[in-house]
Amino acid sequence: MEIRKVGVVGCGLMGSGIAQAAATAGFDTVVREVSQELLDKGRSAIDRSLAKFVEKGELSPEQKAQALGRLLPTLQLEDLANCDLVIEAVIENLAQKRELFTELDRIVKPHAVFASNTSSLSITELMTATQRAPRFLGLHFFNPVPLMKLVEVVKTVVTDPEVVQTGLDFARRLGKTPILTTDRAGFIVNRLLVPYLLDAIRALEEGFGTIEDIDQGMKLGCNHPMGPFTLMDFVGVDTTYSIAEILFQEYREKRFAPPPLLKRMVLAGMFGRKSGKGFYDYSDPKNPKVNKLLEGRG
Ligand code: CAA
Repeated sequence: MEIRKVGVVGCGLMGSGIAQAAATAGFDTVVREVSQELLDKGRSAIDRSLAKFVEKGELSPEQKAQALGRLLPTLQLEDLANCDLVIEAVIENLAQKRELFTELDRIVKPHAVFASNTSSLSITELMTATQRAPRFLGLHFFNPVPLMKLVEVVKTVVTDPEVVQTGLDFARRLGKTPILTTDRAGFIVNRLLVPYLLDAIRALEEGFGTIEDIDQGMKLGCNHPMGPFTLMDFVGVDTTYSIAEILFQEYREKRFAPPPLLKRMVLAGMFGRKSGKGFYDYSDPKNPKVNKLLEGRG
């Protein structure tokens, strides 16, 4: 099935990155937000990110202008009516996503493919909010979308094989590498990544080392681009917590259970980079320091 026009619902961190990748790859891309303020914020994030590619010589100024020209920011879901593929990237809330999909199902042409960028909710549960189960799948992108090469393509027990192929082909057209997985909480990457991140918190609580030393250990000892605490602050301490809760609900295994410190940090508003404080303090964003409140735990 040929995809010509792409719709992205949500222009936050993930939605803006997906819309940027689609527009850069040559797709007419409609991106919808709920307020003008959020839409403007997403649009300027795309503009800044494209500017970085121009700075690095990976895109010409004309290609940047063309990508922006293919982008239609909107506040109306109705503007997605004739999209061939609609990717949802709104807040990770099952009820809200289901409600949105029911509405999209009414608005968007029946043959269009629907995808969710959820990192941990069940694709099958989202799919049942629509009448197009065979044309529904997961397309899970990674943060920062413009740089990260991976897309997890998630099929349910009823996804049409042709639609799976469409998802794989679409990811490749964006210059990404797709991997195919089934609808199990965490898919492949978070199924492996989240227990590792939770274990880093346990290692800290058990006195194996300090936040900085554990981070350095994985950065320099395993060549990870970020240590586990830096990565949790980057992904969001709150997001890590909510993914862990979902994994624990699904598998009921201790390794997925969020450690008490993680929950306390979320309750205290230490969400990581986005709130200015997590495992590190971002008062000076270019020079983060270990969060003093957590010091001495190691
Ligand atoms: N758009 C365009 N360019 C960008 C960019 C963006 N959004 N963000 C950063 N860049 C560019 C920078 O300008 C910089 O360019 P130069 O090399 O020319 O200076 C380059 O990318 C590197 O950026 P930084 O120097 O700021 O930082 P870095 O070297 O640490 O790289 C990173 C940043 C790519 C994010 C790297 O640290 C990394 O790969 N980290 C791990 C990310 C990761 O694991 N993501 C997955 C999270 S899990 C997830 O997303 C799934 C889930 O469900 C939770």
